[in-house]
Amino acid sequence: MRALVWHGKGDIRYDTVPDPRIEERTDAIVKVSSCAICGSDLHLMDGYIPFMESGDVLGHECMGEVVEVGPETKDLKVGDRVVVPFTITCGKCEQCRKGNYSVCENSNRNAALASRMFGHTTAGLFGYSHITGGYAGGQAEYVRVPFADTTVIKAPKNGLSDEQLLFLSDIFPTGWQAAVHCDIEEGDVVAVWGCGPVAQFAIKSCFMLGAHTVIAIDRVPERLEMARQAGAITIDFEKESVLERLNDLTGGRGPDKCIEAVGMEAHAGLGSAQGLQGMYDKAKAALMLETERPAALREALYACRPGGIVSVAGVFGGMADKIPLGAFMNKGLTLRTGQTHVKRFAEDLLRRIEEGEIDPTFVITHRLSLADGPEAYHTFRDKKDGCIKVVLTP
Ligand SMILES: NC(=O)c1ccc[n+]([C@@H]2O[C@H](COP(=O)([O-])OP(=O)(O)OC[C@H]3O[C@@H](n4cnc5c(N)ncnc54)[C@H](O)[C@@H]3O)[C@@H](O)[C@H]2O)c1
Ligand SMILES: [Zn+2]
Ligand SMILES: [Zn+2]
Repeated sequence: MRALVWHGKGDIRYDTVPDPRIEERTDAIVKVSSCAICGSDLHLMDGYIPFMESGDVLGHECMGEVVEVGPETKDLKVGDRVVVPFTITCGKCEQCRKGNYSVCENSNRNAALASRMFGHTTAGLFGYSHITGGYAGGQAEYVRVPFADTTVIKAPKNGLSDEQLLFLSDIFPTGWQAAVHCDIEEGDVVAVWGCGPVAQFAIKSCFMLGAHTVIAIDRVPERLEMARQAGAITIDFEKESVLERLNDLTGGRGPDKCIEAVGMEAHAGLGSAQGLQGMYDKAKAALMLETERPAALREALYACRPGGIVSVAGVFGGMADKIPLGAFMNKGLTLRTGQTHVKRFAEDLLRRIEEGEIDPTFVITHRLSLADGPEAYHTFRDKKDGCIKVVLTP
């Protein structure tokens, strides 16, 4: 089959690879009808996530049709149309039973490696390095789905299109979880760092959950414009001081809740302190003394109103430096984060799509074929051609 394959930093190719086959009795094979490129894939492309191997098949946002099932698959049948969440979930372990799907205790084949890295294992993820199980991803014609019964979301038979359903695999529940983690109360002002696809869903989710005001921060004009269309006030972090604007907009109190939807490759903004921080991070990262650039996280901790919540959706992988722990501790902030427990929110969010409360297609700017994937990665990463979200069809 054909698939998008990682060969090294910045080197993604459209290759021919062996077809996936049933390996475990609870597997299914899904013929992919649509898949997408995520900001998380950029961290792989840019070489920020360790334990990638040349030849790894990428992709963790996909959907399609079940074409083969293992002998112990009960609910799922050949012909079923399914969305494949990025988290692989056994459905049986204590964490899955609690709804903490992204820390499933059984689905990571490389649990020992994950434990060395994180202290404990986390769930297996599709197409996301060997720390998360080394599973082939879904930017491909076919994908093998482990623990198929409990991993997938069955598509309803009501004519919803792939584009309406696809983002249930990741970015819609991810934006939603980020907002849920904020425990939004009446009158809340929520600031969102980033206006990428995840942030766009976080902004909409904040309003759906009752936020009074959402302030969105980025530097890419069309992304800021999309945030404004959703009702957010925007700040361009390259043109104005984020901290000053946030204080101006909140009568000096700071946002009640802050969402970080940028992750480990944040750019430092305007202002000498931030500029210095940016240079410091770049230098340390270049010397391999730090694996991430947490500029947006720092700013969120610093900006947040005392007693507030900082909800981190952005992905981090290793060691970050100079986190303002003093601000975090003395202001009595709460920090909440995690890879998304997709299945926890799937039913609720599917219903909201069915009822027309949200149409997730608003975020799509590029519709291309899987063969165009390698170029699409560059277009998306470099924010060329107004690119916000790419959907690929094999
Ligand atoms: N928690 C999860 O389960 C989960 C799931 C999906 C994605 N993610 C992560 O969410 C993050 C965002 O994903 P995305 O697809 O929207 O990616 P993206 O790269 O398209 O968006 C990131 C945006 O942040 C902006 N940005 C950079 N530095 C900034 C700063 N200092 N302040 C404000 N904005 C800044 C960029 O201009 C960009 O528009 C990534 O880290 C991704 O890995 C997490
Ligand atoms: Zn993703
Ligand atoms: Zn589990």
